[in-house]
Amino acid sequence: MSKLTRYNFDEIINREKTNSVKYDLRSKLFGKADVIPMWVADMDFKTPDFIVEAIRKRTEHEIFGYTFRSEGFCNSIINWIQKRHGWTIEKEWISFSPGVVPALNILVQSLTKPGDKIIVQPPVYFPFFGAVENNGRKMVENQLKLVNGRYEIDFEHLESVIDTDVKMLLFCSPHNPCSRVWTKEELEKIGDICLKNNILIVSDEIHSDLVFKPNKHFPTASISKQISDITITCIAPSKTFNLAGLHTSAVICRNKELLKKYNKFLEDFHLSGGNIFGFEALEAAYNQGDGWLNQLLEYLQSNINFVDDYLQQNIPKIKLIKPEATFLLWLDFRELKLTNKEIKKLLIEKAGVALFDGRIFGKGGEGFQRMNIGCPKEVLEKVLINLKVEFTK
Ligand SMILES: Cc1ncc(COP(=O)(O)O)c(C=O)c1O
Repeated sequence: MSKLTRYNFDEIINREKTNSVKYDLRSKLFGKADVIPMWVADMDFKTPDFIVEAIRKRTEHEIFGYTFRSEGFCNSIINWIQKRHGWTIEKEWISFSPGVVPALNILVQSLTKPGDKIIVQPPVYFPFFGAVENNGRKMVENQLKLVNGRYEIDFEHLESVIDTDVKMLLFCSPHNPCSRVWTKEELEKIGDICLKNNILIVSDEIHSDLVFKPNKHFPTASISKQISDITITCIAPSKTFNLAGLHTSAVICRNKELLKKYNKFLEDFHLSGGNIFGFEALEAAYNQGDGWLNQLLEYLQSNINFVDDYLQQNIPKIKLIKPEATFLLWLDFRELKLTNKEIKKLLIEKAGVALFDGRIFGKGGEGFQRMNIGCPKEVLEKVLINLKVEFTK
């Protein structure tokens, strides 16, 4: 396909009966099979043609034996990161993971010891909590602060909770669900604090391709050579190109010792092999994905503007935290002065809309809901109309 291909993000595709977590688990999770699913971070857009074609082509060989990562896998990552984020990385820095969450868990296990303290910054993507606590480490919370409608890192509090037992920071950049793209200055500050206190940074950058202008994503490890020595970066094409079911992501680390420890775990668990179709998809996405991604970003931005205008005009008590990145909107319901039970009833039973209750994201999540707007505008319109009916009575 030429660069001029226009993609149709308005197309509504029936995803029912495809073993889709988003669609086929609705009865189980929400007690209602027909709620409009706006919760899990999985978009409703078709996978771009060049990715489908790469997978199709590989199926034609009709043998799917054990595989390994090709030069092409690493080169596609190197080129993509250079082109999209201006960070120069080398082949030797790249490893694999069957998902970013598995990588977070392996990094915690391989680079810290039971009982060590690990910092998280809630409200944050909740598997961060599991990566600390399920692995017998102690969680230290450095809650983000909401200042004039925008989230900030509480650096003073961060320094106050650090002691010699703190060994790692699980850093979400850009941040889900608070939708911040951290500035270079903020990243420098984080880096300096971690360098000063011998704290490793695990930088989950899964949302780094989904950044809205004029914001710019800076990979944490690109800030300085010293910071890159203590940082392990997790990326994936799964959010950007909607490929979560292919379980293919990458771990990048310049520090050989750290990467060696990570790789040992990966190999001990027999996880380094990877998935043939995931590799094909990642390569096609990173080699050919610019045009599609640029159009996706435009579509998401117009969805965001649509939600923002609609809420201001029709449901002003629900406030949108202005998103700088991701297709996940963080909505402040606090002004409605409703209980959690009341909100749940209005959302699920009355409006027929499934959002993610902010409480799952930990401290600071109470009173908020996360809404996935990676869907055709027609669906979004229906959701907003339903919300207006129930939340403005
Ligand atoms: C910050 C963040 N990290 C990781 C993931 C999931 O990664 P994976 O599906 O590769 O395990 C998500 C999914 O929403 C996410 O928001």
